[in-house]
Amino acid sequence: MDKRGIVAGLAELVGDRHVLVEPADTASYTRDWSGDNLADPLCVVRPASTAEVSAVIRFARAHGLAVVPQGGNTGLVAGTSATGGRDILLNLGRMRAIRSIEPTDMVMQVEAGLTVEEARSAAEEVGRLFPLAFGAQGTAQIGGAIAANAGGLNVLRYGMTRNLVLGLEVVLADGTVVDTLSSLAKDNRGLALHQLFIGTEGTLGVVTAASLRLSPRNTRRQTALLAFEGLPEIVAFASDARAHCSDLLSAFEFMPGAAIDLATEHVESLRDPLEARHAYYVLLEIAASGPIDLDALLMGLLEDAMGDGRVLDGVVATSDSQRQELWLLREAMVEAQAAQGRHMRTDFSVPLSRVAQLVKALELVVERELPGWTSLAYGHMGDGNVHFNVLPPEGTGQAAFTTAVGQARTRMYEIVRSFDGSLSAEHGIGRERLSALYADRAPEVLRLAETVKALLDPEGRLNPGCLFPVRRDDEGEHA
Ligand code: LAC
Ligand code: ZN
Repeated sequence: MDKRGIVAGLAELVGDRHVLVEPADTASYTRDWSGDNLADPLCVVRPASTAEVSAVIRFARAHGLAVVPQGGNTGLVAGTSATGGRDILLNLGRMRAIRSIEPTDMVMQVEAGLTVEEARSAAEEVGRLFPLAFGAQGTAQIGGAIAANAGGLNVLRYGMTRNLVLGLEVVLADGTVVDTLSSLAKDNRGLALHQLFIGTEGTLGVVTAASLRLSPRNTRRQTALLAFEGLPEIVAFASDARAHCSDLLSAFEFMPGAAIDLATEHVESLRDPLEARHAYYVLLEIAASGPIDLDALLMGLLEDAMGDGRVLDGVVATSDSQRQELWLLREAMVEAQAAQGRHMRTDFSVPLSRVAQLVKALELVVERELPGWTSLAYGHMGDGNVHFNVLPPEGTGQAAFTTAVGQARTRMYEIVRSFDGSLSAEHGIGRERLSALYADRAPEVLRLAETVKALLDPEGRLNPGCLFPVRRDDEGEHA
C-alpha cells in the first residue's frame, strides 16, 4: 500500500484531522525539544481512545508498518526519533481523561496523554500528592514518564515512576489490550506484568492508561539553598541530612556556581539569592503533611553543618514565591543550557559515597580530551545521579562537536563503569545510548532482554531502533 493509501486508512480509524503529514503540522512531534534530534515518520497519528490505539496497531501490522509511541516529546535520548520510511509516530496526547480518583484508596486512574502537571493538580484538588516532578512536567505526559521510568526531583523520598504505578492498560504489538489497572497497594497475583512496560520506552507495548499511587499532600515545607566549597562536603552533608530528617527529606539537589549564572541569564526575573558566588550549591526540601516542626528540624541540621564550617552560606525560603524562585534556579537548567547551543548531556548514577570522586574523574577527561570546553556537573545528589554536561567553546562546528563528544563520552562511560555506576540513571537509552548499552551490559543480560522483546514483539514493530537494535531480518520489512 502506498503512502496515500496508508494515510487514508489511518484517517478512517482516527479521523482525518488526526493523521498529520504536512511538515508544518508534524513539526512539534518530529523535532525534539532541543532540536538535536529529528524524526522523519510517514505520518503522525493521534488516536483518542484505547480502541483507536489498538485499531492503529492492527492496521500497522496488516500493512508492515512500525509504530513509534510518543508522549509530550520532552525526552532527552532520541526515544521517539523515528527515521524509518514506514514508521508511524503514534502520539497519545489526545488521551487525557482522568478515569477515576479515589482519595481514600490513594489512587487515581488516568490516561497516558495527561500531562504530569495535570496529574499533580488533580491529586492536589482531592488533598493528595502525585509526587512525580521535574522541569518538563508541564509538557511531559504520564505515558511517556512511565515509558521512560522518569525520575526527577522527588525520587529520594517517593521513588522513580516505577514505584508510583500500581497497574497499567497496555496495547500489545498485535493490538491486544491488556488491562492490569489495579487500585490495590498489595496484589500478589503472580507476575507484576505492568513492570515490563515501565522504563522500556514503548518497545514492548503502548501504555494507554495507568493506575497511580498517591501520597498524602504535604502542607508544610522548608526549602533551603546552601553554599558549599566542594562536592566531598556535599556528599557528607547529604548523608547527614538523610539521617537527620526522618524520611521527610524530599529533595536534595546540587548545582555548581555557573548554574546560577545560567539560570539568572535565562530567566530574567531571577536573581542570585546569596551575596557571594560559591563553588557549589545544594537545594534541599523537607515536607510534611501534619503538625511537624520542620523549622526546628531544618535549623537543627543547619546549626550542626554551619557550626563545623561545612555550609558556607545559605537562604531558607520564607514565602511560597521565594520557594518557587529557588526551585526555578534548578529547574531552568535544561533549557538554560540548551539556550547556549548544542552541548553534551549525560545522566550517570553511582553510589552516593562516590559522587565527588566520579565528578573529579570526569572533569579530568574534559581537561585532557576537550580543552576549552566547560563542564557543568549538577543533579540529584540524594540519588547519586549526576548530569555531567559539557558545553563546547563558541564557534565549534557540528562535525568537530560530534567527534569530540563521541570520544569523550566513551571514556566517561568506562569511568562510570569502573565506579559501579549506570550510564543512564533516569533518562533511558533511546537511540542515543543504544551502542553504549550494548558495550556496557553482559551478553547474557542483553540476550535475556532480547528474549522478552522477541516474545512480546516478534516482528519488531514497536519503536524499532530504540533500546533494542533493529534485527537484521526486520530491516527488509520496515525499509
Ligand atoms: C534534570 C534533567 C536533565 O535533572 O533530568 O535537570
Ligand atoms: Zn535529572
